[in-house]
Amino acid sequence: MWVFLNDKFVARDDALISVFDHGFLYGDGIYETLRAYDGRVFMLAQHLARLQRSAKLIGLELPLPEKDWPHVVNDAIARNNLRDAYLRITVSRGTGEIGLDPSLCPKPTVVVIAKPFQAYPTHLFTKGVSLITTTVRRNLATALSPQIKSLNFLNNILAKQEATKADAFDGVMLNAEGHLTECTTSNIFFVQGKRLCTPSVACGILDGITRDVILTLAREQALLTEEQHYLPEALRQADEVFLTNTTFELMPVREVNGHAIGGGQPGPVTKSLHEAFRTNLSRFLA
Ligand code: PDD
Repeated sequence: MWVFLNDKFVARDDALISVFDHGFLYGDGIYETLRAYDGRVFMLAQHLARLQRSAKLIGLELPLPEKDWPHVVNDAIARNNLRDAYLRITVSRGTGEIGLDPSLCPKPTVVVIAKPFQAYPTHLFTKGVSLITTTVRRNLATALSPQIKSLNFLNNILAKQEATKADAFDGVMLNAEGHLTECTTSNIFFVQGKRLCTPSVACGILDGITRDVILTLAREQALLTEEQHYLPEALRQADEVFLTNTTFELMPVREVNGHAIGGGQPGPVTKSLHEAFRTNLSRFLA
């Protein structure tokens, strides 16, 4: 495996960073997770734009010029002879003396990992997954904005631990007002009658790139879409619930807090949107 580290590709065992890296010391940094299908990256420009946005929001200047990023990502796929790939871009504040001040770090650390894409087990898509609503709340947007895809991921990790302990696939977090936000690495949607609903960005979520694609496809199918604030009870009353992210696309939910959703198996809207995602996929590949 070849890993891009700062300015060149190095062998996996040589892809090492300092214990003084502020990504390690403080979680000071940002990341993106991408997926390639047959050598083409899903929504590459949007992922790179979000990386830029995260960088800007933490006052970090990306050490590579904007025009170089697509090449680095594509080279990471090619160098590793991959077609279907999982990619992770990580940029940390860099190596510096201990202390919070980012100016201690003269140069950000850049890592791009590309590895074979491991598909999720089929039964998750055919049967759906279980969720709980976690007691762990989503970060207050005014404390650590969920719009920063940050290396400081403990909020989500604590929620994931809680879900795992409860034998659930994942946990949906509420915000400080008690409204639905998102799961630990995905956005949540539900179908209520004729409406496809998803928490609005104002609820304190990451504006997922797959979320956006699904909203576009839904509108193309003339579905009514709604982005609002919702109480957790909305999931209990929903006809269908599903999650979206770059790695699993669209994941049906069969149960929330032990309560079966709809008929306890993926519903028609979930199925038709996932089908639309698959048939339209090439539109979204770079
Ligand atoms: N997670 N919400 C959170 C908190 C996320 O971390 C992610 C992505 C999403 C979905 O975003 P997108 O559709 O752009 O992938 C929503 C990635 C997969 C990860 O953390 O690895």
